[in-house]
Amino acid sequence: MKLIKLNNGKFVIIREANKTDAINMIKYIEKISRESDNLTFGEGEFEVSYEQEEVFIGTLSKQENCLCIIAEDNGKIIGNLTFIGGKRPRTAHKGEFGISVLKDYWGKGLGTELISFLIDWSKETGIIRKIDLRVRTDNTNAIHLYEKMGFTIEGKITRDMRIENKFIDTFQMGLEIG
Ligand SMILES: CC(C)(COP(=O)(O)OP(=O)(O)OC[C@H]1O[C@@H](n2cnc3c(N)ncnc32)[C@H](O)[C@@H]1OP(=O)(O)O)[C@@H](O)C(=O)NCCC(=O)NCCS
Repeated sequence: MKLIKLNNGKFVIIREANKTDAINMIKYIEKISRESDNLTFGEGEFEVSYEQEEVFIGTLSKQENCLCIIAEDNGKIIGNLTFIGGKRPRTAHKGEFGISVLKDYWGKGLGTELISFLIDWSKETGIIRKIDLRVRTDNTNAIHLYEKMGFTIEGKITRDMRIENKFIDTFQMGLEIG
């Protein structure tokens, strides 16, 4: 667990999620799906039950190359980062993450703190040697954030998403660890 201070002076907690967070996590995900078109799912498209989410978080918490963290403001989930490492020996050293922050908290330094947490954790595992992500080519705030944290663009994936009949390209970005 880590106590962090946002740019507005507010203190929030970053901690690893556990199975008991499943219900609040689903509610959080439903909310962010309405707030941003930068995710791989839109409103009502997540389609994961509380029970499935509970199993998902429980499984991740047992894997030494996976991480699911949440940021909390007075017990309310305000941000999430989930990193999933490869399952087999040849891919266990790398993984991809997704990140989101509630709109009310954008631009206050929380995304930076969540990624710092991931990078520190990756170094401590001794296993993770590469962090990957995909981001919409027009998501300039997120790209700025990733570049600030040391990630570089490794390639462009065309037609990676389709939103309301419009194809969206993404950048593949990565950060080598160690
Ligand atoms: C992308 C996201 C996770 C960033 O989280 P955040 O808490 O807003 O990030 P931070 O406040 O740490 O910083 C973001 C950087 O972008 C800049 N930025 C500029 N305008 C911004 C805005 N309107 N909102 C957020 N960041 C902004 C910030 O200045 C900061 O750079 P700096 O540290 O050099 O000043 C968050 O905006 C989000 O959840 N967006 C919707 C979902 C999404 O796009 N996820 C990523 C998918 S790949």
